[in-house]
Amino acid sequence: METKLIPTLNNMGWMITQHHLDIYTQSFIDYALTASKPVLEVGAAYGVAAPHILKQGGKIIVNDLDSRHLECLYAKTPVHLRSNLTLLAGSCVDEIEIERGSLSAILCGRVFQFFDAQTISLCLERFARWLEPNGKVFIIADSIFHGMNEPIFADFLQRKSTGCPNPGRVSLADNQRLATHPNKEGILAAMPEYFNFIDIETMANLLNKTGFLIEQASYFPARYYDEVSLWNGREGVGLVSVLIR
Ligand SMILES: C[S@@+](CC[C@H](N)C(=O)[O-])C[C@H]1O[C@@H](n2cnc3c(N)ncnc32)[C@H](O)[C@@H]1O
Repeated sequence: METKLIPTLNNMGWMITQHHLDIYTQSFIDYALTASKPVLEVGAAYGVAAPHILKQGGKIIVNDLDSRHLECLYAKTPVHLRSNLTLLAGSCVDEIEIERGSLSAILCGRVFQFFDAQTISLCLERFARWLEPNGKVFIIADSIFHGMNEPIFADFLQRKSTGCPNPGRVSLADNQRLATHPNKEGILAAMPEYFNFIDIETMANLLNKTGFLIEQASYFPARYYDEVSLWNGREGVGLVSVLIR
């Protein structure tokens, strides 16, 4: 069977492989190769965009919570390209620090579904500080149309209608899609219990409050997932935004 996902070493879900890039990761790669300042991949696991950028002669700073992922990236990077790679282990929420205004773009791929709205806002504040004026942030996340949100979608709509700040946040422990899956325990153990399935409006509001203007946003088919995570071809969500403050 074709491998589309690689497990993380810290039970933070899976990384998509190099062959299953979504349009937002591809846009980040294209933008990074024209950028005048360094770019950053946040929550990269073993590096999704980074190998593409390095291979094409670009430079990149790569962050992940777990330094073992970054060690793997370093080991698989050809020796002559390693001087273009900077590794930064630690939490993007409250650990790593980057010089103010020093980045042209940031990719944050499939990390925000693990955070609540307050934590996402904290990250966005930090991203805004690190970016140059007109710098861009590329966000990809699991959307409200992720398969595991299908059986409880009405609950999401209800929370959204009452102005809940985290309308997509749920525990997956008793998820109905997972209940009948032969590897239910394995899947649950490999990722955080709480998920925040992201909708465009909620994410765009958080970005706007932090001084970002949305350039592009859409749901897209998450072709990298297996059946249990699929629903209606809109399982992924991506947003490109530009810093205007
Ligand atoms: C689901 S994987 C996504 C990996 C890759 N970005 C992708 O799109 O396939 C989530 C990654 O985010 C990292 N992560 C989670 N919380 C983080 C944090 N606070 N700071 C930095 N990285 C974090 C995890 O270590 C894990 O490697």
